Amino acid sequence: MKLYKKEGNILQIISFPTESAEKGDYLLVEDADAAKALIAQVIDVQFAAVPGVLEELLRTLPDGGEPLQGEDIDPMEIAPHITYIQDASLLICKIRATLENEMLSPSSSWLPSRSQSTIKKLSIPMLMKLAKVDGKLPIILGGTKDSSLLTIDASSIDGTLNIITGKKGCGKSHLSKLLMVNLVGYKATVVIFDLNGEYSSLGLTNDGKRNMYYDKIHTLIPSQNFKVALEQLPLNTVMGILVNALHLPGTSAREFRRLWKMLKEQGKLNMQNLGEAIRDLNCNQHVRDALASRFHSFANSGFFTDCPGEATLLDESLFKAKDAGGAIIVNLKNTSNIDRQIVVEYVLGKLVDSLSNWKLKAVFLFAEEAHLYLRETYWDDIVTRMRHYGIFTTFITNQPDTIQDTIYRQADNIFLFNFTNEHDLDVVSRAARVDAETVRSIARDLPPHHCLTLGKVVRDFPIVARVRALDIKTMGETRLFFPTLNS
Ligand SMILES: Nc1ncnc2c1ncn2[C@@H]1O[C@H](COP(=O)(O)OP(=O)(O)OP(=O)(O)O)[C@@H](O)[C@H]1O
Ligand SMILES: [Mg+2]
Repeated sequence: MKLYKKEGNILQIISFPTESAEKGDYLLVEDADAAKALIAQVIDVQFAAVPGVLEELLRTLPDGGEPLQGEDIDPMEIAPHITYIQDASLLICKIRATLENEMLSPSSSWLPSRSQSTIKKLSIPMLMKLAKVDGKLPIILGGTKDSSLLTIDASSIDGTLNIITGKKGCGKSHLSKLLMVNLVGYKATVVIFDLNGEYSSLGLTNDGKRNMYYDKIHTLIPSQNFKVALEQLPLNTVMGILVNALHLPGTSAREFRRLWKMLKEQGKLNMQNLGEAIRDLNCNQHVRDALASRFHSFANSGFFTDCPGEATLLDESLFKAKDAGGAIIVNLKNTSNIDRQIVVEYVLGKLVDSLSNWKLKAVFLFAEEAHLYLRETYWDDIVTRMRHYGIFTTFITNQPDTIQDTIYRQADNIFLFNFTNEHDLDVVSRAARVDAETVRSIARDLPPHHCLTLGKVVRDFPIVARVRALDIKTMGETRLFFPTLNS
């Protein structure tokens, strides 16, 4: 390989047919005189068809570049060289760091010698060692192309905001399951808003036997085994549900607050009394109607109960998950749109409450297709307020434009699967920790189950890996009418 050109932080390298390099590979451009080296990543491979490149190659043919004119040269001997040149490729590489005295710095301001520098491939394990991507809590994400493992450290997803995105069916939920079980294995508390009801079987192996996580997986199904008693509900949470999920206007909200406090003081706070109090309320007709319709939604959701014994599951699961680790799966599969918002509002309120009282240290929250249940103002909340309380969120979606811009700008890690759609790639490129060229060029060619990992977990060295398989009963398959045709 030979250095050809440098423009800003892009290197162009001529690669001969015998030296194969592919998109995503890392190269080390060493300059012995300067005692420095550049680490660059191949982001595109092109034919070396530029006239300048051909001239350059002819001048420096590997056999010393014998003069091509003169009578003693057999014209046929040129042919192999010509083919060699025709097959040479031009590697467009992005400079990722400078290596000096075993230390990495992000600069790309110096120029290696064109004649003296040597270029070789840098293996992923070597790169990971240089970048110090290791730690005491390893999570094996999968295998890289040079058959080494990509291992990240669980502490690098601690306190972070993450995005898992990619086309439909490419393995996003699979990766989030992998991250979840590993976090639970390290005794973390994990909560997932499970839109398709596909996480409940994390405690079972492929053939349906219990695995080591079985006792740590708690599935909550709203209005079945997951209910709330009004008297356990903090007023702030109820007001959050009424105002945000059910859009109760200000005047009616004030009236409701007064009613709630009155019933609470009298020790008579339950669904039946609340319903009666609203019916008998002596006030403006509109206010009463507004309250009555919201009460109706409350009652219809089946999520609220008057029997406190029925309503302790979330507390119990959080308590169990607190020390030994555990995953609380909020199954939203059969929950209607409005009820979903009520449940999510309640769970988030409860988490903030438990975290602010230090009943919990921190929670890893996984949210599948969050735009279907997360209200507008929560997005900002999640990157600011909730993060400080200790809620560390991972958004999972196949529609990247449903995630708000603030989230992209603040995201610490992005796990990117295949996208071919320009618009989707544009959206992901907005993330602060990635550059648009890398995203566009590499993500477009990713095969299924392969993921481009970007951000803090890989110390900003984008790495492609095939996500490893899990011995966990999967439920994420798309339902098909003609299953054999697709297998
Ligand atoms: N790395 C992997 N190894 C083996 N099987 C995998 C891997 N990743 C995904 N699968 C399988 O591929 C199928 C689809 O994966 P998954 O449900 O994770 O995709 P998805 O991106 O979440 O899809 P959707 O957009 O529909 O939610 C599942 O049956 C899953 O078990
Ligand atoms: Mg999925």
